[in-house]
Amino acid sequence: MKIFRTKNYEYMSLKACNIIMDKLHKLDYPNLGLATGSTPIGLYNCLIQQFNNKKISFKNVTTFNLDEYIGLSVENPNSYNYFMHDKLFNKVDILPENIYLPNGVAENLEKECKEYEQTIKNKGGIDLQILGLGTNGHIAFNEPGTPFHSRTRIVNLAQATIDANARFFKSLDDVPNQAISMGIKTIMESKEIIILASGDSKANAIAKLLDGIVTEDFPASVLHKHKNVTVIADEAALANT
Ligand code: F6R
Repeated sequence: MKIFRTKNYEYMSLKACNIIMDKLHKLDYPNLGLATGSTPIGLYNCLIQQFNNKKISFKNVTTFNLDEYIGLSVENPNSYNYFMHDKLFNKVDILPENIYLPNGVAENLEKECKEYEQTIKNKGGIDLQILGLGTNGHIAFNEPGTPFHSRTRIVNLAQATIDANARFFKSLDDVPNQAISMGIKTIMESKEIIILASGDSKANAIAKLLDGIVTEDFPASVLHKHKNVTVIADEAALANT
């Protein structure tokens, strides 16, 4: 596990942006795994800027998002599908048919999960997966206690996650309590993984991640078993290490 320390959020975003740009230049048809939440917004802004400067194109890029709330359609501003279009996809030249997110309003959610997993495989797997870190150590919506062999499936969100995400909703009651999430095994099959963390709210989680103890009680700790992981964290997030 490589650790890259940055001064602040802006430099964390820039470092991640440079790694993605490099991947886009090196691979003919890159498959990116993407996250939502506050952490990657600076990264997405940087990618948009580089696209506007004609330094990168998303024409040959395929994306797979980590998760989606159950019950929120693509038109719902709180859905992750809406978020990704708003924060990145609508502002670059990615082809709509190359964008994959789980469908949280699919009629058959079990089938949706199986098909999502299969699509990732059929497209050749994820070349570079971007992750954020939950304060409880979750990656995607794999909450503490999730088996490391888990695959894309329906998950119940931990109360800590519902509370943390309530800031995006009108009230706590509006936060869905279920989601479709890529599994830990699915994430671990990515060829390369970057995990981003910024700010003092992530300091305990980053300290726990870097203490090196691998346990299903702290899902992100599984990343120690992967050969190509970079933690990009700012000084505030690394304050307890
Ligand atoms: C988002 C996701 C989550 C977030 C995590 C951190 O797609 O899967 O695991 O990455 O909850 O969220 P933020 O970045 O809002 O602190």
